[in-house]
Amino acid sequence: MRLIRAKDYQDVSRKAANIIASVIQLKPDCVLGLATGSSPVGTYKELIAKYESGELDFSQVKTVNLDEYVGLPKDHDQSYAYFMRTNLFDHVNIDQSGCNIPNGMNPDAEAECARYDAVIDAFGGADLQLLGLGPNGHIGFNEPADAFVKPTNKIALTKATIDANARFFASRDDVPKFAYTMGIGGIMKAKRVLLVVSGKGKAQAVKDCFFGPICPQAPGSILQLHPDFTLVADEDALSLVADQL
Ligand code: GLP
Repeated sequence: MRLIRAKDYQDVSRKAANIIASVIQLKPDCVLGLATGSSPVGTYKELIAKYESGELDFSQVKTVNLDEYVGLPKDHDQSYAYFMRTNLFDHVNIDQSGCNIPNGMNPDAEAECARYDAVIDAFGGADLQLLGLGPNGHIGFNEPADAFVKPTNKIALTKATIDANARFFASRDDVPKFAYTMGIGGIMKAKRVLLVVSGKGKAQAVKDCFFGPICPQAPGSILQLHPDFTLVADEDALSLVADQL
């Protein structure tokens, strides 16, 4: 694990965007694994600024997103498809026909998960997978469990995740109860993994996942085994492990 220490959220975003930009510059037709949530929003803003200044060209970039809520159509303002369009895709010159996200409206979970794994396999995994970290240590929507799940799967969101994401919906009852998520296998297939984390609310998850044992109860801990894993974390997110740095 390579740890890049940042001052605050903005610094995390700048440092992460620089890493992603270098991947695009070295390989203009790269495959980016992308994430949603508030953590990567600043990174996407920095990437948009680099595109606008002429530093980056997304025309050959392909993408594969981590997850999608089951039952939300792609035009729903809380779907991850909508999130990606409004936070990145609509602002850069990417060909959106090459942007892949699980289809939350496919009622056939087995078929949808198999389809998505075929997409990931056809790419041979992402060149770089960007991740956030759930307050309970989840990556994508791989929630704490008794075992790591390798393939793309339909997962029941934990109460903690529903609570954490309720802020984006009109009421807690509106939060979908299930999601399709790339599994641990798809994430680990990426050639490089970059996780961005910021704030005191994530400090316990950072400690459990990256400074503790590798176990499925802390799903992000599997990244300790990835050969090219970079953690970009700010002071608050590292506040519970300061004595170990
Ligand atoms: C969501 C997403 C994750 C994300 C996490 C943290 O549930 N499925 O991919 O990393 O929660 O979100 P945030 O960055 O808003 O804290």
